[in-house]
Amino acid sequence: MNISFNVEDAVRKRYSVRNYSHKDVETEKRDKIEAFIRALENPFGNRINFHYLDGSGIKDVEKLGTYGVIKGAKHYIGTTIKLADMALEALGYEFEVMILYLAHLGIGTCWLGGTFDRKGFAEAMKVDEGDLFPVISPYGYAADKKHIKEMAMRKVIKADQRKPWKELFFKDGFSTPLTEDEAGDLAFPLEMIRLGPSASNKQPWRIVLMDGNLHFYEDREPGYSDRFPYDIQRVDMGIAAAHFDLSVKEKEIKGYFDKDSNPGITLPGNMEYVFSWIRD
Ligand SMILES: Cc1cc2nc3c(=O)[nH]c(=O)nc-3n(C[C@H](O)[C@H](O)[C@H](O)COP(=O)(O)O)c2cc1C
Repeated sequence: MNISFNVEDAVRKRYSVRNYSHKDVETEKRDKIEAFIRALENPFGNRINFHYLDGSGIKDVEKLGTYGVIKGAKHYIGTTIKLADMALEALGYEFEVMILYLAHLGIGTCWLGGTFDRKGFAEAMKVDEGDLFPVISPYGYAADKKHIKEMAMRKVIKADQRKPWKELFFKDGFSTPLTEDEAGDLAFPLEMIRLGPSASNKQPWRIVLMDGNLHFYEDREPGYSDRFPYDIQRVDMGIAAAHFDLSVKEKEIKGYFDKDSNPGITLPGNMEYVFSWIRD
Protein backbone atom coordinates (compact mmCIF):
# COMPACT_ATOMS: atom_id res chain seq x y z
CA MET A 1 0.00 0.00 0.00
CA ASN A 2 1.58 3.27 -1.14
CA ILE A 3 0.24 6.48 0.32
CA SER A 4 0.86 9.48 -1.88
CA PHE A 5 -0.85 12.20 0.17
CA ASN A 6 0.28 14.34 3.07
CA VAL A 7 -1.13 12.76 6.23
CA GLU A 8 -1.53 15.89 8.33
CA ASP A 9 -3.25 17.79 5.49
CA ALA A 10 -5.76 14.97 5.02
CA VAL A 11 -6.35 14.51 8.77
CA ARG A 12 -7.00 18.24 9.24
CA LYS A 13 -9.15 18.51 6.12
CA ARG A 14 -11.44 15.59 7.02
CA TYR A 15 -14.65 16.19 8.93
CA SER A 16 -18.03 14.49 8.81
CA VAL A 17 -19.97 15.84 5.83
CA ARG A 18 -23.70 15.25 6.25
CA ASN A 19 -25.04 17.62 3.56
CA TYR A 20 -23.99 16.95 -0.04
CA SER A 21 -24.19 19.08 -3.17
CA HIS A 22 -25.89 17.73 -6.28
CA LYS A 23 -22.61 17.57 -8.17
CA ASP A 24 -21.74 13.98 -9.08
CA VAL A 25 -18.32 12.58 -8.30
CA GLU A 26 -16.69 12.26 -11.71
CA THR A 27 -16.43 8.72 -13.14
CA GLU A 28 -12.64 8.89 -13.40
CA LYS A 29 -12.40 9.94 -9.74
CA ARG A 30 -14.66 7.06 -8.75
CA ASP A 31 -12.44 4.70 -10.72
CA LYS A 32 -9.39 6.10 -8.90
CA ILE A 33 -11.12 5.59 -5.55
CA GLU A 34 -12.00 1.98 -6.37
CA ALA A 35 -8.40 1.32 -7.48
CA PHE A 36 -7.13 2.84 -4.22
CA ILE A 37 -9.50 0.64 -2.21
CA ARG A 38 -8.38 -2.51 -4.07
CA ALA A 39 -4.79 -1.79 -2.96
CA LEU A 40 -5.69 -1.27 0.73
CA GLU A 41 -4.01 -3.41 3.38
CA ASN A 42 -4.05 -3.42 7.17
CA PRO A 43 -1.51 -4.45 9.80
CA PHE A 44 -3.85 -6.99 11.43
CA GLY A 45 -4.28 -9.18 8.35
CA ASN A 46 -8.08 -9.58 8.36
CA ARG A 47 -9.89 -9.36 5.05
CA ILE A 48 -12.21 -6.37 4.57
CA ASN A 49 -14.83 -6.35 1.80
CA PHE A 50 -16.00 -3.12 0.22
CA HIS A 51 -19.40 -2.57 -1.39
CA TYR A 52 -20.46 0.32 -3.60
CA LEU A 53 -23.81 1.94 -4.19
CA ASP A 54 -24.34 4.72 -6.70
CA GLY A 55 -27.42 6.81 -7.36
CA SER A 56 -26.97 6.28 -11.06
CA GLY A 57 -27.46 2.52 -10.76
CA ILE A 58 -30.01 2.44 -7.95
CA LYS A 59 -33.04 4.65 -8.29
CA ASP A 60 -33.90 4.57 -4.62
CA VAL A 61 -30.61 5.59 -3.06
CA GLU A 62 -32.20 8.79 -1.70
CA LYS A 63 -34.95 6.75 -0.11
CA LEU A 64 -32.58 4.51 1.80
CA GLY A 65 -32.74 5.71 5.34
CA THR A 66 -30.16 7.60 7.35
CA TYR A 67 -32.83 9.02 9.70
CA GLY A 68 -32.46 12.45 8.11
CA VAL A 69 -28.79 12.58 9.08
CA ILE A 70 -27.38 12.53 5.54
CA LYS A 71 -28.83 14.73 2.83
CA GLY A 72 -28.15 14.85 -0.91
CA ALA A 73 -25.69 11.93 -1.07
CA LYS A 74 -25.69 9.85 -4.24
CA HIS A 75 -22.78 7.53 -3.57
CA TYR A 76 -22.13 5.20 -0.66
CA ILE A 77 -19.38 2.77 0.29
CA GLY A 78 -19.98 0.02 2.84
CA THR A 79 -17.77 -2.61 4.43
CA THR A 80 -18.33 -6.13 5.61
CA ILE A 81 -16.24 -8.55 7.67
CA LYS A 82 -16.41 -11.96 9.22
CA LEU A 83 -16.36 -11.41 12.97
CA ALA A 84 -12.91 -12.51 14.14
CA ASP A 85 -10.16 -11.33 16.44
CA MET A 86 -8.96 -7.85 15.26
CA ALA A 87 -11.51 -7.71 12.40
CA LEU A 88 -13.17 -4.52 13.68
CA GLU A 89 -9.78 -2.84 14.15
CA ALA A 90 -8.74 -3.93 10.63
CA LEU A 91 -11.98 -2.50 9.24
CA GLY A 92 -11.45 0.79 11.09
CA TYR A 93 -7.93 0.99 9.71
CA GLU A 94 -8.77 0.40 6.03
CA PHE A 95 -11.96 2.44 5.99
CA GLU A 96 -10.21 5.42 7.58
CA VAL A 97 -7.27 5.25 5.14
CA MET A 98 -9.86 5.38 2.38
CA ILE A 99 -11.64 8.31 4.04
CA LEU A 100 -8.37 10.26 4.34
CA TYR A 101 -7.66 9.58 0.67
CA LEU A 102 -11.08 11.00 -0.25
CA ALA A 103 -10.43 14.04 1.97
CA HIS A 104 -7.18 14.54 0.07
CA LEU A 105 -9.17 14.45 -3.21
CA GLY A 106 -11.53 17.10 -1.80
CA ILE A 107 -14.38 14.62 -1.39
CA GLY A 108 -16.50 14.56 1.77
CA THR A 109 -17.48 11.45 3.76
CA CYS A 110 -19.19 10.57 7.03
CA TRP A 111 -18.66 7.42 9.04
CA LEU A 112 -22.08 5.89 9.81
CA GLY A 113 -22.18 3.07 12.31
CA GLY A 114 -25.58 3.69 13.84
CA THR A 115 -27.78 6.10 11.92
CA PHE A 116 -28.51 4.08 8.79
CA ASP A 117 -31.10 1.52 7.77
CA ARG A 118 -28.80 -1.47 7.98
CA LYS A 119 -31.29 -3.87 6.42
CA GLY A 120 -32.13 -1.61 3.46
CA PHE A 121 -28.49 -0.84 2.71
CA ALA A 122 -27.49 -4.50 3.14
CA GLU A 123 -30.03 -5.50 0.49
CA ALA A 124 -29.04 -2.69 -1.88
CA MET A 125 -25.35 -3.46 -1.45
CA LYS A 126 -25.94 -7.23 -1.76
CA VAL A 127 -24.28 -8.03 1.55
CA ASP A 128 -23.99 -11.77 2.20
CA GLU A 129 -26.09 -13.09 5.02
CA GLY A 130 -23.89 -13.93 7.98
CA ASP A 131 -21.40 -11.14 7.25
CA LEU A 132 -21.11 -8.27 9.68
CA PHE A 133 -22.00 -4.91 8.18
CA PRO A 134 -20.80 -2.40 10.76
CA VAL A 135 -20.35 0.84 8.80
CA ILE A 136 -21.07 2.74 5.63
CA SER A 137 -20.16 6.20 4.42
CA PRO A 138 -21.76 8.47 1.87
CA TYR A 139 -19.28 10.31 -0.31
CA GLY A 140 -19.48 13.34 -2.55
CA TYR A 141 -18.91 17.07 -2.65
CA ALA A 142 -20.02 18.98 0.43
CA ALA A 143 -22.94 21.38 0.03
CA ASP A 144 -22.20 25.02 0.81
CA LYS A 145 -23.93 24.89 4.19
CA LYS A 146 -24.53 22.30 6.89
CA HIS A 147 -28.17 21.29 7.38
CA ILE A 148 -29.97 22.17 10.61
CA LYS A 149 -30.06 18.67 12.09
CA GLU A 150 -26.37 18.31 11.27
CA MET A 151 -25.50 21.52 13.13
CA ALA A 152 -27.54 20.37 16.13
CA MET A 153 -25.81 16.95 16.14
CA ARG A 154 -22.35 18.51 15.98
CA LYS A 155 -23.20 20.66 18.99
CA VAL A 156 -24.52 17.78 21.10
CA ILE A 157 -21.50 15.55 20.49
CA LYS A 158 -19.05 18.48 20.58
CA ALA A 159 -17.77 17.33 17.19
CA ASP A 160 -15.31 20.20 16.88
CA GLN A 161 -13.51 19.40 20.12
CA ARG A 162 -10.96 16.76 21.07
CA LYS A 163 -9.70 15.60 24.48
CA PRO A 164 -6.38 17.12 25.60
CA TRP A 165 -3.15 15.10 25.60
CA LYS A 166 -3.23 14.55 29.36
CA GLU A 167 -6.46 12.54 29.11
CA LEU A 168 -5.24 10.32 26.28
CA PHE A 169 -1.52 9.65 26.49
CA PHE A 170 0.50 8.30 29.44
CA LYS A 171 3.94 7.00 30.36
CA ASP A 172 4.87 3.80 32.19
CA GLY A 173 1.29 3.24 33.38
CA PHE A 174 -1.92 5.21 33.69
CA SER A 175 -0.88 7.51 36.57
CA THR A 176 1.45 9.87 34.71
CA PRO A 177 0.43 11.83 31.60
CA LEU A 178 2.86 11.93 28.69
CA THR A 179 3.90 15.40 27.50
CA GLU A 180 4.56 16.23 23.86
CA ASP A 181 8.22 16.89 24.76
CA GLU A 182 8.60 13.46 26.34
CA ALA A 183 6.95 11.81 23.32
CA GLY A 184 9.77 13.12 21.09
CA ASP A 185 9.35 11.99 17.48
CA LEU A 186 6.17 10.10 18.47
CA ALA A 187 4.42 13.38 19.33
CA PHE A 188 3.35 13.88 15.72
CA PRO A 189 1.79 10.43 15.19
CA LEU A 190 0.05 10.71 18.59
CA GLU A 191 -1.31 14.14 17.71
CA MET A 192 -2.68 12.69 14.46
CA ILE A 193 -4.55 10.07 16.53
CA ARG A 194 -5.94 12.76 18.81
CA LEU A 195 -7.48 14.60 15.85
CA GLY A 196 -9.22 11.49 14.50
CA PRO A 197 -12.92 10.72 14.24
CA SER A 198 -14.67 8.29 16.57
CA ALA A 199 -18.19 7.02 17.17
CA SER A 200 -20.14 9.82 18.94
CA ASN A 201 -16.75 11.58 19.26
CA LYS A 202 -15.99 9.51 22.37
CA GLN A 203 -12.27 9.21 21.56
CA PRO A 204 -11.82 5.91 23.42
CA TRP A 205 -8.11 5.55 22.60
CA ARG A 206 -5.66 5.62 25.53
CA ILE A 207 -1.98 5.05 24.88
CA VAL A 208 0.89 4.26 27.24
CA LEU A 209 4.54 4.79 26.30
CA MET A 210 6.85 2.24 27.94
CA ASP A 211 10.46 1.47 26.99
CA GLY A 212 10.00 3.20 23.63
CA ASN A 213 6.96 1.08 22.70
CA LEU A 214 3.33 2.20 22.68
CA HIS A 215 0.49 0.17 24.16
CA PHE A 216 -2.99 0.95 22.87
CA TYR A 217 -6.06 0.58 25.14
CA GLU A 218 -9.75 1.12 24.68
CA ASP A 219 -11.51 3.13 27.38
CA ARG A 220 -14.73 1.27 26.75
CA GLU A 221 -17.91 3.20 27.40
CA PRO A 222 -20.25 0.94 29.40
CA GLY A 223 -23.44 0.13 27.49
CA TYR A 224 -22.43 2.08 24.39
CA SER A 225 -22.16 -0.96 22.11
CA ASP A 226 -25.14 -2.84 23.59
CA ARG A 227 -27.25 -2.15 20.48
CA PHE A 228 -24.66 -3.91 18.27
CA PRO A 229 -23.52 -7.56 18.22
CA TYR A 230 -19.94 -6.20 18.43
CA ASP A 231 -18.01 -3.44 20.17
CA ILE A 232 -18.13 -0.52 17.72
CA GLN A 233 -15.44 1.31 19.68
CA ARG A 234 -12.98 -1.30 18.37
CA VAL A 235 -13.48 0.37 14.99
CA ASP A 236 -12.27 3.60 16.62
CA MET A 237 -9.15 1.73 17.75
CA GLY A 238 -8.52 0.79 14.11
CA ILE A 239 -8.86 4.45 13.14
CA ALA A 240 -6.18 5.29 15.73
CA ALA A 241 -3.94 2.60 14.24
CA ALA A 242 -4.44 4.08 10.74
CA HIS A 243 -3.59 7.66 11.73
CA PHE A 244 -0.60 6.42 13.71
CA ASP A 245 0.72 4.06 11.03
CA LEU A 246 0.43 6.54 8.14
CA SER A 247 2.22 9.16 10.28
CA VAL A 248 5.16 6.97 11.36
CA LYS A 249 5.59 5.73 7.81
CA GLU A 250 5.61 9.28 6.46
CA LYS A 251 8.25 10.26 9.06
CA GLU A 252 10.19 7.00 8.49
CA ILE A 253 9.92 5.94 12.13
CA LYS A 254 10.32 2.17 12.11
CA GLY A 255 8.18 -0.25 14.10
CA TYR A 256 5.37 -2.79 13.84
CA PHE A 257 2.00 -3.61 15.40
CA ASP A 258 1.73 -6.61 17.70
CA LYS A 259 -1.34 -7.77 19.57
CA ASP A 260 0.54 -10.05 21.96
CA SER A 261 2.71 -7.49 23.78
CA ASN A 262 0.39 -6.71 26.66
CA PRO A 263 2.69 -5.26 29.35
CA GLY A 264 0.23 -6.30 32.06
CA ILE A 265 0.04 -2.95 33.83
CA THR A 266 -2.76 -2.11 36.26
CA LEU A 267 -5.77 -0.83 34.34
CA PRO A 268 -8.23 1.77 35.60
CA GLY A 269 -12.01 1.42 35.15
CA ASN A 270 -13.15 0.04 31.85
CA MET A 271 -9.78 -0.01 30.14
CA GLU A 272 -9.03 -2.94 27.81
CA TYR A 273 -5.71 -3.77 26.15
CA VAL A 274 -6.04 -3.90 22.35
CA PHE A 275 -2.59 -3.91 20.65
CA SER A 276 0.92 -2.49 20.84
CA TRP A 277 3.30 -0.77 18.51
CA ILE A 278 6.86 -2.03 18.96
CA ARG A 279 9.68 0.20 17.90
CA ASP A 280 12.43 -1.40 15.76
C1 LIG B 1 -17.15 4.19 13.99
C2 LIG B 1 -17.91 5.48 13.79
C3 LIG B 1 -19.29 5.48 13.72
C4 LIG B 1 -19.99 6.66 13.51
N1 LIG B 1 -21.36 6.61 13.38
C5 LIG B 1 -22.04 7.74 13.08
C6 LIG B 1 -23.43 7.67 12.83
O1 LIG B 1 -24.06 6.62 12.90
N2 LIG B 1 -24.06 8.83 12.49
C7 LIG B 1 -23.42 10.03 12.37
O2 LIG B 1 -24.05 11.02 12.04
N3 LIG B 1 -22.08 10.13 12.62
C8 LIG B 1 -21.38 9.01 12.95
N4 LIG B 1 -20.02 9.07 13.16
C9 LIG B 1 -19.30 10.37 13.03
C10 LIG B 1 -18.84 10.94 14.37
O3 LIG B 1 -19.93 11.43 15.09
C11 LIG B 1 -17.80 12.04 14.11
O4 LIG B 1 -16.67 11.47 13.48
C12 LIG B 1 -17.34 12.77 15.37
O5 LIG B 1 -18.41 13.42 15.97
C13 LIG B 1 -16.24 13.82 15.09
O6 LIG B 1 -16.67 14.77 14.14
P1 LIG B 1 -15.88 14.97 12.77
O7 LIG B 1 -15.92 13.64 12.04
O8 LIG B 1 -16.62 16.03 12.02
O9 LIG B 1 -14.47 15.35 13.11
C14 LIG B 1 -19.29 7.90 13.41
C15 LIG B 1 -17.89 7.91 13.50
C16 LIG B 1 -17.20 6.71 13.67
C17 LIG B 1 -15.72 6.75 13.72
